[in-house]
Amino acid sequence: MDLFEKRVKNLGPLGMYAERADGYFMFPKLEGEISNKMVFRGKERLIWSLNNYLGLANHPEVRKVDGEAAQRWGLAYPMGARMMSGQTDYHEQLERELASFVKKPAAYLFNFGYQGMLSVIDSMLDRNDVVVYDSEAHACIIDGLRLHMGKRFVYPHNNIENLRKGLERATRLTNQTGGGIMVITEGVYGMTGDLGKIDEIVKLKKEFDFRLLIDDAHGFGTMGPTGAGTDEHFGVQDQVDMYFGTFAKAIAGIGGFVASTAPVIDFLKHNMRSQIFAKSLPMPMVIGALKRLELIRTQPELRTKLWTIVDALQSGLKKAGFDIGPSGSPVTPVMLNGTIPEATMITLDLRENYNIFCSIVTYPVVPKGIILIRLIPTADHNLEDVEYTINAFKEVRQKLDEGKYASEQIADITNL
Ligand SMILES: Cc1ncc(COP(=O)(O)O)c(C=O)c1O
Repeated sequence: MDLFEKRVKNLGPLGMYAERADGYFMFPKLEGEISNKMVFRGKERLIWSLNNYLGLANHPEVRKVDGEAAQRWGLAYPMGARMMSGQTDYHEQLERELASFVKKPAAYLFNFGYQGMLSVIDSMLDRNDVVVYDSEAHACIIDGLRLHMGKRFVYPHNNIENLRKGLERATRLTNQTGGGIMVITEGVYGMTGDLGKIDEIVKLKKEFDFRLLIDDAHGFGTMGPTGAGTDEHFGVQDQVDMYFGTFAKAIAGIGGFVASTAPVIDFLKHNMRSQIFAKSLPMPMVIGALKRLELIRTQPELRTKLWTIVDALQSGLKKAGFDIGPSGSPVTPVMLNGTIPEATMITLDLRENYNIFCSIVTYPVVPKGIILIRLIPTADHNLEDVEYTINAFKEVRQKLDEGKYASEQIADITNL
């Protein structure tokens, strides 16, 4: 069969909805300056979908430095991979500053968090090593594990008893193979906002010999007294062996990093295929990341503002009787009971009638019958946004309870 024919015949689990969903539910275009209000399909909407936690994307100092760096260096410099011709003092400076911020001896940059995670897993592990990981691990961890030739054991999300069983099995196995064990968890789980139980996981180090890697994409910049991450929040930074962060969220840029001991970072630097065989991070992003990191360190009020909004939103939703699950981070899920068509109608109603733009998740990402509306509060939001949204959600819940989103009503809402 012709490969092209085969592929376009079945567009995949998301592609199959492309005709109906593209441009609205998938690939929506948000226009204008990144902030709490942006334009979607020609109308201003209140946006709860961006991981611009600290509002750095449009911070005037960030915009200034980004512009100046692009002017001075262009977007091409440096050319080539770090190892060949793409090394600069600024890349090294950023690594030193990131390492010191997350309290690790050394760090190394990635061009994308996703590729970085793949490459860390790939280079750290060989066929004799065993991985024990959380069942809700991000796609970059799962895809990294596809490259792993040895055994892996998954434990149900945050189930420490099962993790212990996985570690027992892994220990028996590595005693035979002579390999090592890596445990991988996230700091903050991005869909539900609950925290990886890093405090409990590190306690297992007393019983088992393993190294802990945490993906703290959502925790970096937002969690802990200085924003250094979820391990800082739990007070266990010294027990986390490898810390992964991305620039895609609180830093509001692109790229990422891993921090660990100096010898391990030196090993990664010489072995991580995603960095050896790919072009170095462009200079404006490096200079821009240095600026953003400086602001995270010197303007704690950005984090205070974020948490003011988080607390108002989460306590307001709870007070109004909403189930927001076990979130311990800014990520705020609102759980409703309903069908997939009802979820579609809620999205339409929120966007078109309330001008609220947020992401809605249904089965199979969450159990059947659950509608998860994910809100991402940021330092760019204000308390009026919070109040407005909670009131809108109360109305939406009422309509859902009255069956107004059931299929026979669809025409009324879509007739906008
Ligand atoms: C938990 C987690 N890990 C890793 C990544 C990938 O990071 P990046 O966007 O820098 O590739 C993301 C998404 O951005 C994420 O949410």
